[in-house]
Amino acid sequence: MALVEIRGLVKSFHNRKSGDVQILRSIDLALDASQTICVVGESGCGKTTLGKILAGLQTYNGGSFLYKGQEVSKLDKQQWKAFRTDVQMIHQNPYESLNPTQMVFDMIAAPLKRHKKATNFTSLYEQVIKLLEMVGLTPVEDFIDKYPANLSGGQRQRVSIARVLSMDPKFIVVDEATSMIDTSMRISLLQTLKEIQEKMGVAYLYITHDLALGRYFAWGQRLAVMYLGQIVEIGPAERVLSDPHHPYTKAILAAGKVEEVDGYELKGVEIPSFRHIPSGCSLSPRCPQAIAGLCENVTPTLRTVSDSWQVSCHLYQEQS
Ligand SMILES: Nc1ncnc2c1ncn2[C@@H]1O[C@H](COP(=O)(O)OP(=O)(O)O)[C@@H](O)[C@H]1O
Ligand code: SF4
Ligand SMILES: [Mg+2]
Repeated sequence: MALVEIRGLVKSFHNRKSGDVQILRSIDLALDASQTICVVGESGCGKTTLGKILAGLQTYNGGSFLYKGQEVSKLDKQQWKAFRTDVQMIHQNPYESLNPTQMVFDMIAAPLKRHKKATNFTSLYEQVIKLLEMVGLTPVEDFIDKYPANLSGGQRQRVSIARVLSMDPKFIVVDEATSMIDTSMRISLLQTLKEIQEKMGVAYLYITHDLALGRYFAWGQRLAVMYLGQIVEIGPAERVLSDPHHPYTKAILAAGKVEEVDGYELKGVEIPSFRHIPSGCSLSPRCPQAIAGLCENVTPTLRTVSDSWQVSCHLYQEQS
């Protein structure tokens, strides 16, 4: 049984002018303990919406979302409480997620106390120290009595991670966690997240619009490419990146100059609105390889093109 499994997940938002607008359009994903799926896609494609649903911070309208085999929308009060402890989210902005009036120690001690993870002060102190070491805020004595204002963006994000880890989570949604911190600090923070995965066995849904970071974090794991609320390609990261199949994957790799995919460009720069999703394949008006008569009429589904590699495009046939 997968730790997290979604099938045909749908999310719509209600808009007074346009009515219900579907943002997530039938998403399938499955994730085991200690695994990472990295979701890449341009801004506005629905990554955060997907992350929030998986972290239990937003509802879904259709499809199935199983956590440890149980439908999340049907959990009882007790199960929901356990789910909300097991599943955590690290947000984009470390400046908003920390209380400016609390010292680092108190910020990490509070959830430990709330969840009754320490019975006395010595145990509480030891756990805070361990968590600070785990997220690389060492020497610990340099950080324990600091306020957020005395910390850099990267250090604040490390405090946010320590707080999340205090819950002993099994699955963490990491949403653009390095986009607001200094470029030079990004890789070391991602390295810390990888070390945490090795030590604690957590699973990650790592969300980014930055393909270079996605490539770094997803290496050896899986990469999913999202366009207009759908996954268009998913597979082993290094294979998807070195031999992208879907025209959209090729285009974003070429545009980001992440891999050598020479001269591959989509037609027009405008991403269609969710209110006017093109018929058939939603990339068809922009796709340089579109097959006239087919792509604008028939919606492709995710097909397995080789072992654990799926592409949603009429150019590829299901492997038998
Ligand atoms: N609470 C909301 N109400 C209405 N529309 C929303 C809401 N949250 C997100 N959206 C819309 O959903 C789309 C995807 O947003 P988001 O998930 O934040 O994308 P990403 O994280 O990939 O940039 C956008 O068009 C956004 O305007
Ligand atoms: S289905 Fe057609 S339009 Fe869509 S990505 Fe493939 S070739 Fe392009
Ligand atoms: Mg986002």
